[in-house]
Amino acid sequence: MTAFELIRALAHDTAIGIVVTDPVIEPPGPTILYANAAFGRLVGRELDDIVGQSPRFMQGRETRRETLDTFHRALAAGERFHGYFTNYRPNGTKYRAEIDCRPLRAADGRIESFVAFEREVLRRLGRPAGNASGRYELTSVSNDTLTGGLRALGVFEHS
Ligand SMILES: Cc1cc2nc3c(=O)[nH]c(=O)nc-3n(C[C@H](O)[C@H](O)[C@H](O)COP(=O)(O)O)c2cc1C
Repeated sequence: MTAFELIRALAHDTAIGIVVTDPVIEPPGPTILYANAAFGRLVGRELDDIVGQSPRFMQGRETRRETLDTFHRALAAGERFHGYFTNYRPNGTKYRAEIDCRPLRAADGRIESFVAFEREVLRRLGRPAGNASGRYELTSVSNDTLTGGLRALGVFEHS
């Protein structure tokens, strides 16, 4: 079983958005190979309209170019990326997403695909706590098994 197959088997019912792309990072890639139902709800689209697209379709005016460049560099270097984005749903509403993206490697070290765990966060009003996660709060709390497992694995860092 590849890492991708394992994720697909576990991702179905979790409340965290999970999306897997191919390893092609230059446009028109990366291409979405799989997204779970929670990802469809996060981005406001049917899964049939998501698979085959590049994740850039969520970007808009307030999506920071600087953050995208950092993301692009991390993908090119085969490193993990953790950050916060402003993205848009097809009806024009914007939302903040926390993204934790990692390469999935074959046994020989080659990158086979990328997986991102994504969830909606709200910017906290008032003075931020020290680190970036102190500036955001979750829009919903999930307690399903995979969410607990991802927390144990350090995905999103601060649960
Ligand atoms: C698995 C995966 C998930 C991604 N999810 C998002 C996302 O939710 N929102 C977003 O704006 N970009 C997302 N991206 C980033 C874009 O696909 C792209 O890599 C980014 O815009 C930087 O590359 P560019 O400078 O070529 O546009 C994702 C990338 C990968 C590999």
